[in-house]
Amino acid sequence: MNNTVHAFAPGRIEFLGNHLDYNGGTVLGTAINAGIYAVAQMENEPTFHLRSKSFEGSVISGSIEKLEKLSGDQSWGNYCLGVLKVLQDKNLAPTQGFSLTLRTDLPMSAGLSSSAAVELATAQCLLALSKQSLPKEELVNICRQAENEWVGLPCGILDQGTSAFGETNRVVQIDCAKESYSTLPLPLRTSFWIFDTGIKHDLIDSHYGTRNQECKDALTIIQALDGSIECLTQCPVSLLQNIEIPENLKKRALHVVEEQARVHRFSDGLQNKSLPLELGPLLTASHKSSSLNFENSLPELDFLVEELRKEEKVFGARLTGGGFGGAVLAWTSQDFSQADANLIALEYENEWKHKPNYHSFLPSKGACLLDHSDVKLVN
Ligand code: GLA
Repeated sequence: MNNTVHAFAPGRIEFLGNHLDYNGGTVLGTAINAGIYAVAQMENEPTFHLRSKSFEGSVISGSIEKLEKLSGDQSWGNYCLGVLKVLQDKNLAPTQGFSLTLRTDLPMSAGLSSSAAVELATAQCLLALSKQSLPKEELVNICRQAENEWVGLPCGILDQGTSAFGETNRVVQIDCAKESYSTLPLPLRTSFWIFDTGIKHDLIDSHYGTRNQECKDALTIIQALDGSIECLTQCPVSLLQNIEIPENLKKRALHVVEEQARVHRFSDGLQNKSLPLELGPLLTASHKSSSLNFENSLPELDFLVEELRKEEKVFGARLTGGGFGGAVLAWTSQDFSQADANLIALEYENEWKHKPNYHSFLPSKGACLLDHSDVKLVN
């Protein structure tokens, strides 16, 4: 059918810069070679049909003229409807009904941001159906707005930005205050492994919103002392150490400002061709800070990082994404093998009585519309 459009949006690995995006910081992420494939076509009735074999509650239909939030096993459809709503408000949405079918090869609930990938795949399809094309920066903002306003998660632009701007063998660097995007080359012969605890990381029900609010509260106190500080990542550590501030807010703020320094050191290191062995410890230090100061780790995630640290083919390891469950990223030499990963998984199983899933990913291209020739069959 010639009015059919196809799109792909990758999942992402948060490489470094934990909870910095909504604090005006600079973050590093990589798009991965797994994601969401979407196919869409116009319908004659003013009705939408969302389908997916990868999610439960697989067919959702409704009127495009009266969108309603979904719940239960249809909740996944909110990522699509949120995008539709933002596009409608901007007069960029299809004015006819449509059907949208999603397929994924991305592990779910593993901290790889399937939600941002669903949003970006949906946005690209709907814009293509309405014959609109937008710069990637705007696409990112539309998807973030959908997540903030329709889904209700006060996230920043790390996930959507990384999925949109990903490039093969490169990390995406996002200055979240300026909303500017660039990419940096990764050292050759390194690999990414994800160890997924399988502990459901449901950011909406978790402490994500609480952490976001704590960061805002810390900033309010800091700004009362120094009005020139615009966002938490700009606060000097020396100021933080000398102010009266509740202990929990101090810890959150310390994590944010020190994490920002690690991101800058990592980014400079990549540009100066530093060795992975020199840069990797910054990832492990990030995890320690998440665990002690931001308190978004879990004993299971700490255990994985500790086991991975012992392995000399691992340059660094840290929780990736929002935390409170989900997965650990290990940045390794290319010699780190399935057998090595399996040994880590066995250690974990001995301790926690369930086996983590593990996957290796390649830093890959970002979200794009697909030609009919390179479409994977949506089933
Ligand atoms: C989730 C959010 C992102 C970011 C990370 C933590 O992935 O969606 O916006 O805040 O957590 O860095």
